[in-house]
Amino acid sequence: MDSSTDLITKSLLFLHLLVLSAAGCYPSIFSFGDSLADTGNLLSTSPNDQSGCPPYGMTFFHHPTGRCSDGRLIVDFIAEAMGLPLLPPFLEIMNSSSAQEVEELRKGVNFAVSGATAMDYSFFKERGVDVSDNNSSLFYQLQWFKQLLPSLCSSSSDCKKMLQNSLFLLGEIGGNDYNNPFTQGLSVDEIRSFVPRVIQTIGSAINELIELGARTLVVPGITPLGCNSMYMTYYHSDNQEDYYDSRGCINWLNEFASYHNGLVQDEIRRLRQLHPYATLIYADYYGAIINIFSNPQQFGFGNKELFVACCGGGGPYNYNASAICGYEGSTVCDDPSKYFHWDGLHCTEAAYRIIADGLLTGYFATSAISSSCPGVKLNADQLNLITSS
Ligand SMILES: *[C@@H]1O[C@H](CO)[C@@H](O)[C@H](O)[C@H]1NC(C)=O
Ligand SMILES: *[C@@H]1O[C@H](CO)[C@@H](O)[C@H](O)[C@H]1NC(C)=O
Ligand SMILES: *[C@@H]1O[C@H](CO)[C@@H](O)[C@H](O)[C@H]1NC(C)=O
Ligand SMILES: *[C@@H]1O[C@H](CO)[C@@H](O)[C@H](O)[C@H]1NC(C)=O
Repeated sequence: MDSSTDLITKSLLFLHLLVLSAAGCYPSIFSFGDSLADTGNLLSTSPNDQSGCPPYGMTFFHHPTGRCSDGRLIVDFIAEAMGLPLLPPFLEIMNSSSAQEVEELRKGVNFAVSGATAMDYSFFKERGVDVSDNNSSLFYQLQWFKQLLPSLCSSSSDCKKMLQNSLFLLGEIGGNDYNNPFTQGLSVDEIRSFVPRVIQTIGSAINELIELGARTLVVPGITPLGCNSMYMTYYHSDNQEDYYDSRGCINWLNEFASYHNGLVQDEIRRLRQLHPYATLIYADYYGAIINIFSNPQQFGFGNKELFVACCGGGGPYNYNASAICGYEGSTVCDDPSKYFHWDGLHCTEAAYRIIADGLLTGYFATSAISSSCPGVKLNADQLNLITSS
């Protein structure tokens, strides 16, 4: 066991301490992004989506909720840790009007939509990439937020206070800006050439939220695409040397993801200088997942199950585009908690829990989400003491 995993194991042991101190920290959470964060928006407009079919939701909710997993997502674990209700999907609650309903919405709303991209539909159309025109890109999600805001707070000082105290989760977003072009056969060089545009769009959204009054924002990078069952299926190789890294993930795809993540972090540094009074936390989904793939057993995942999706329609990674999870021809594993991948594109609840823990404690974030709580002094020193002893 190397020292970094040792640290993580210890920090997980002490997580309950941190969760206690985080409760009551933020009065509300607003979340934007794609299927890694969608708690039901796509399903409310597309009732036949796979996320509305069993076995989605089997572990925690015991029925499908529109979440692309067997249970809770990272955003759910963060809400729980803050003592808040799980965030309702905007497209489901957009017409709420009773005072009681509105009071609940002040605790947070989720604007993330499965399939959403950072860039608008027209951007892809110009490049010959087919994405469904669902008008759910980051731009639209921000529009929805601005549309809802006046009903959440009464005066401009009330709104200011609410925004200042809220936690904003900006993603994950950007993954689909690459998934669509990759699966439609664009070259990696071509896709790489528009990464800066994607970053610029994410940066503008962050900037706009800060200008509206947001003060604490968590900005995730994208996941290591090269460890993903869907990509492993599309880009499988039997004989290229150096094609896979020591963990078994596809090198060039992870390099691509790291390129995006490097630029996201540059953008965060730029925005911090522009808005020194705002707290921008980089959430290292990539690092968290690489860590799991480096020491799967330590986190409770079987070696054999690591690359194979729990739910899918066959093939070496149990990912089959003609028989995706939830639809005819797919089957589900007995114990999702032993698997990292849920349906080939998304993680199991077990995996999301580990990533969320890493963000809350600060091991996979530039600072612990809980330590940026206004008024709550989180024991970063205490934690260091614990983990270095
Ligand atoms: C909300 O109201 C609009 C306008 O009346 C309607 O088109 C939409 O379907 C409603 N949404 C929900 C989730 O009820
Ligand atoms: C758009 O909606 C369709 C169903 O109406 C769904 O299959 C597709 O994944 C969605 N795409 C995006 C980009 O949200
Ligand atoms: C998306 O928005 C554009 C511009 O407002 C509109 O023309 C188009 O019909 C919308 N598409 C969908 C699927 O709602
Ligand atoms: C993928 O699914 C299709 C449709 O169910 C099936 O015909 C095919 O055999 C499956 N492929 C693999 C590799 O299991």
